[in-house]
Amino acid sequence: MPHAGKVSLGTRLHESASKLLGIRRKAAKPPNPFTPGPGRIPPCLAGRDGQIRVLTEALLNRLSRQAPPPHDVAMVAQRGVGKTALVHWLQMEAERHDIRIVNLTPRELPDTRELMLQTLPQADAEAAGARSERETTARLGGAAGSLAALVSQTRRSASEGRLSPQAWRDGMERASKVRPCLILSDEAQHFRPEVAGALFEGVQKMQGRGFPVALVIAGTPDTWNALGRAGASFHDRLGKGQLSLGLLDEAASMLAVGEGVKASDLDIEADGDALRMVHADSQGYPYFLQVWGEALYDNLDWPNDRRLTPSHVEAVWAKVNGVRRDYYSSRWREMADAPGFGPVGLVPVCAAVARGVLRSGGEDVVVSDAEVDAWVAEGLGICGTGALKDARRLMRHMGFLVNAGDGLCCAGIPSLMRHTLRAAITAERVPSSWGDGLDLEAHPPERSAV
Ligand SMILES: Nc1ncnc2c1ncn2[C@@H]1O[C@H](COP(=O)(O)OP(=O)(O)OP(=O)(O)O)[C@@H](O)[C@H]1O
Ligand SMILES: [Mg+2]
Repeated sequence: MPHAGKVSLGTRLHESASKLLGIRRKAAKPPNPFTPGPGRIPPCLAGRDGQIRVLTEALLNRLSRQAPPPHDVAMVAQRGVGKTALVHWLQMEAERHDIRIVNLTPRELPDTRELMLQTLPQADAEAAGARSERETTARLGGAAGSLAALVSQTRRSASEGRLSPQAWRDGMERASKVRPCLILSDEAQHFRPEVAGALFEGVQKMQGRGFPVALVIAGTPDTWNALGRAGASFHDRLGKGQLSLGLLDEAASMLAVGEGVKASDLDIEADGDALRMVHADSQGYPYFLQVWGEALYDNLDWPNDRRLTPSHVEAVWAKVNGVRRDYYSSRWREMADAPGFGPVGLVPVCAAVARGVLRSGGEDVVVSDAEVDAWVAEGLGICGTGALKDARRLMRHMGFLVNAGDGLCCAGIPSLMRHTLRAAITAERVPSSWGDGLDLEAHPPERSAV
């Protein structure tokens, strides 16, 4: 057994030879700052300055001053554009401001009792109670006694089904005087109407009485239907709190990758041309930008290579395209498994819409709802069954189509159109002639002409 303090002869010889030849030990490359995936806060949260300003000014600043926000916030947008990432960013910031966070999962809220139980503080109440004699009694005017006792009694009543909305609001209000409260609810499209109604009404009352309680919801466009069923005036009261999120423009895409690589603390620069190629290929879809960033960083031969160039983009395109194909295959399964449209699901409908869009001028064209209806009807003819209204709703839910306002719509992710039509033809779900005159292949991005 070798002595722990001794270095082997081979190692010593290697070290001496390296020293003689002037070879320095290669520093390890830090972990990749890009980790594409649902809800991941990217290394550079690009193109969201306006939204971050609203969240900071209307929520964080107001709550930290013990004031209610001027409005609540809703981020309702198509899938994959970064709703959850922004919610996670907000949560991180709110924690830094010592704001109490309540994370609600609407799918797991069967009734208002559960809503009350999940929003009332638990550990916080005990911690606050321990402190209450020392610091909170004065802030509560000395009348409330131990906050922990009050909240735990409120929680007990809730679990026994005896909690009234009034008692719940009292508990929330008293707790918010100790620590302002931010209620976050992602996937808001799954809210049950009665739960959403009770939450919005309750929060509105707390705010009306001047308590620092705020609500942020995020969800797909179906969210408005779910909330509409709640009969709540939440939507009308949002004002500046209605935050739209969409695909990133060229400047934001370039930041997402160009600044993202710098998050590793390495002195890596990226050529503008390379970043423009990445934007063109990703079409500003945030998830694909993260995939690009990850592939480029992995492939970089640092420290010999410290600059991302068009050649690096070309070298990893096939890999990125493979990830994109896998990502699209889950969309395909959703189309194929859509119930109510016969054995091939919604595939012919999506393929008909894709063909219509591509023939109207390309995958990023804006088309009218009336045109879409005509293409949907054509696709339904192949399905043999299914309602136009349901098909449109599902395509919006999947993010295949998104509203562009004024009776217009466009592709949620442009390249998904081409991909879907090609896959439908290959799988013989639609006539092969649907591809005539169209280029359905994916191509690497081109270098700029200059
Ligand atoms: N502003 C941004 N800049 C760069 N990348 C982003 C940005 N926002 C989100 N991303 C990245 O995009 C991917 C998808 O984000 P996220 O899961 O938040 O989307 P989502 O809208 O919540 O999707 P879903 O509707 O499927 O829940 C993640 O990898 C995330 O890191
Ligand atoms: Mg999400």
